[in-house]
Amino acid sequence: MSISADGYVAGPNQSEDDPLGVGGRALHEWHLGPTKDHPANRQVISDMMDGIGATIMGRNMFGPVRGPWPDQSWTGWWGDDPPYHHPVFVLTHHPRASIAMRGGTTFHFAGDGIEAALERAFDAAAGGDVRLAGGAATIQQYLRAGLIDEMHLAIVPILLGGGERLFDHLDGGPTGYECVELVSSLSVTHARFARSAR
Ligand SMILES: NC(=O)c1ccc[n+]([C@@H]2O[C@H](COP(=O)([O-])OP(=O)(O)OC[C@H]3O[C@@H](n4cnc5c(N)ncnc54)[C@H](OP(=O)(O)O)[C@@H]3O)[C@@H](O)[C@H]2O)c1
Repeated sequence: MSISADGYVAGPNQSEDDPLGVGGRALHEWHLGPTKDHPANRQVISDMMDGIGATIMGRNMFGPVRGPWPDQSWTGWWGDDPPYHHPVFVLTHHPRASIAMRGGTTFHFAGDGIEAALERAFDAAAGGDVRLAGGAATIQQYLRAGLIDEMHLAIVPILLGGGERLFDHLDGGPTGYECVELVSSLSVTHARFARSAR
């Protein structure tokens, strides 16, 4: 997750024009802009999908539509060939048939709870890891349930001032993790957290 210095992973007012909320795109400059070629960023980008067999994301990350699906034409932000190349489980209370995209990505819509989605994702990953891609509401539920082994935070030195805060609604905060890797480039600090030894 790319997170601002004041703790937001999306700016306010998500919309089709501002999928990351107002100002939120600046969170992703480190891997979309010129500094993506800094060695520290390049390493993180290349490691990001290593060993991942399936992804879980919240419905707000999948698209701008809220509530029941008005039509089935929206197939995510990523075009015909999304960058996942494996099964992706989209959490939503609104059922929808799975969508097979080019390049091996299939979007499945999961409405039977976070544990069931995780179980389906691990089955689909066939021995690989499962990546929780976001957004904030999704990560918070898995944190509350104690189901996250490792977190990679790309801490971006900007202040968004509003939007979706990652470590919100957690009843005591994200306890039980320690930083096991810290690497900086000019545009971002990458911090990897793992569960502390008990
Ligand atoms: N900074 C980053 O690295 C990063 C990464 C990923 C995403 N983002 C951004 O974060 C924003 C989205 O975050 P968000 O916190 O607004 O939302 P989100 O977690 O992406 O999605 C929340 C929605 O997912 C569905 N959902 C969540 N939990 C569910 C459950 N247990 N069962 C069924 N459905 C469930 C609900 O939609 P229904 O109403 O359909 O039920 C809920 O409203 C976007 O702007 C995205 O671009 C940022």
